[in-house]
Amino acid sequence: MADRETAAIVLAAGKGTRMRGSLPKVLHPLAGRPMIAHVCATVAALEPARVVVVVAPGMDAVMDAVAGAAAPVEVPVEAVVQREQLGTAHAVGAARGALEGFAGDALIVFGDGPLITAETLRAVVAARRAEPEPAVVVLGVRRDDAGEYGRLVVGADGALERIVEFRDATPEERALTLCNSGVMALDAGRLFGLVDRVGCDNAKGEHYLTDIVALARADGLSCAVVEAAADELVGVDSRAGLAAAEAVVQRRLRNAAMEAGATLLDPDSVYLSFDTAFGRDVVVEPHVVFGPGVRVGDGVRIRAFSHIEGATIGNGAAVGPFARLRPGAEVGVGARVGNFVEIKQAVIEAGAKVNHLSYIGDARVGAKANVGAGTITCNYDGFDKARTEIGAGAFIGSNTALVAPVVVGDGAHVGAGSVITKDVPDDALAVTRAPQDIRAGWAARFRERKRKAKRGGGKKDG
Ligand code: UD1
Repeated sequence: MADRETAAIVLAAGKGTRMRGSLPKVLHPLAGRPMIAHVCATVAALEPARVVVVVAPGMDAVMDAVAGAAAPVEVPVEAVVQREQLGTAHAVGAARGALEGFAGDALIVFGDGPLITAETLRAVVAARRAEPEPAVVVLGVRRDDAGEYGRLVVGADGALERIVEFRDATPEERALTLCNSGVMALDAGRLFGLVDRVGCDNAKGEHYLTDIVALARADGLSCAVVEAAADELVGVDSRAGLAAAEAVVQRRLRNAAMEAGATLLDPDSVYLSFDTAFGRDVVVEPHVVFGPGVRVGDGVRIRAFSHIEGATIGNGAAVGPFARLRPGAEVGVGARVGNFVEIKQAVIEAGAKVNHLSYIGDARVGAKANVGAGTITCNYDGFDKARTEIGAGAFIGSNTALVAPVVVGDGAHVGAGSVITKDVPDDALAVTRAPQDIRAGWAARFRERKRKAKRGGGKKDG
């Protein structure tokens, strides 16, 4: 059976009412992407023939989130609609059309169980195909505090007899500690026949997928359990559950980053995204947040309290402390972005420095240019965005306002405090300050006048 194909069915049509919000539950993000995309990506790692995601009507945003979620693995991901939410067996039934003629195994997973690993899913599929080829394999997890999970009833021979939902369980069954994770593998050819026979005579009045175990047993088929670690099988059904899942995902991402050679000085304070990519010998200081789409080159140091998303940082560059790189920021090789600097949709070319208190947006800062403290690109007039170009080797004096669109040529200087509204030619100096007026002795005379007025209690000077 080793060459059998697998089709994954991801159930995601549940309302998620306990999240108490308007976003469908499976769209809540973990490490910068919706949890349904995590599940699809994990499933895709098994290289299934196809992935069918079951959504409720109106969940177009979920359909969008699953499109491309399998990348970089090339697996077709298709969304099907379950018209009414009548239970997990009914949800699986919605995948029937999409699996028409499919002859391999079906792997059923829940869209709100984003912590499951590909390794565990492989073990479930492998158990389905191993002797004695059980008809149904269920992934179970042992919990001392089993709460309201369904319980797996296992016979003396170790085979799975049935699954009982918490609300329908007797006190003896509730005392069982082996819980249903919701993950199952079975022959796709048998799946829909079993699902069709599931009734709804139970505490919730729902069509329970879990009932197919007893139905398979009644047909004389064998069912088996594969056990997994409890921390992989925490379903997210509340905001607190979401936060707990985020903590697990972050721990995994931090460990993976460190194993790949990045130094995180205080790992617990660094927040990573699912796709954060580090080069070699990167050092990340405490309290740094990486949003999605960040690539960090070799030998980069990211100093404390920086916030980075959608940005590329070249080899040997340094960023922060307290830097903000927004989408489209490209920091070149060996460039410096210092404290209280915000960069958006701008290229800071190799060796350039923007070290203090600046906003650089919709701009290019040429190689080795030096942008002085407090420099701002005025890129927005309330209606449109405009670009600023700063040439290679240019020197922008402190507290300059560059009113875009504007070009400062290669090697040009801009005097501190200038408001630049016209292009500056290469190697020129541009200064827009008012001329400095010196009045010798004025300050001393002023102080004297003030002191006298105070002593005499006389009239105030204007
Ligand atoms: C289910 C299991 C329970 C298990 C628990 C693990 C059943 C009957 N019970 O219970 O044994 O311990 O998961 O978390 O399967 N869904 C649909 N359409 C529906 C109903 C549900 O797509 O009509 C989806 C949900 O989006 C969710 C998954 O199925 O992804 C599980 O549904 P949920 O109602 O949360 O099941 P539980 O009551 O948690």
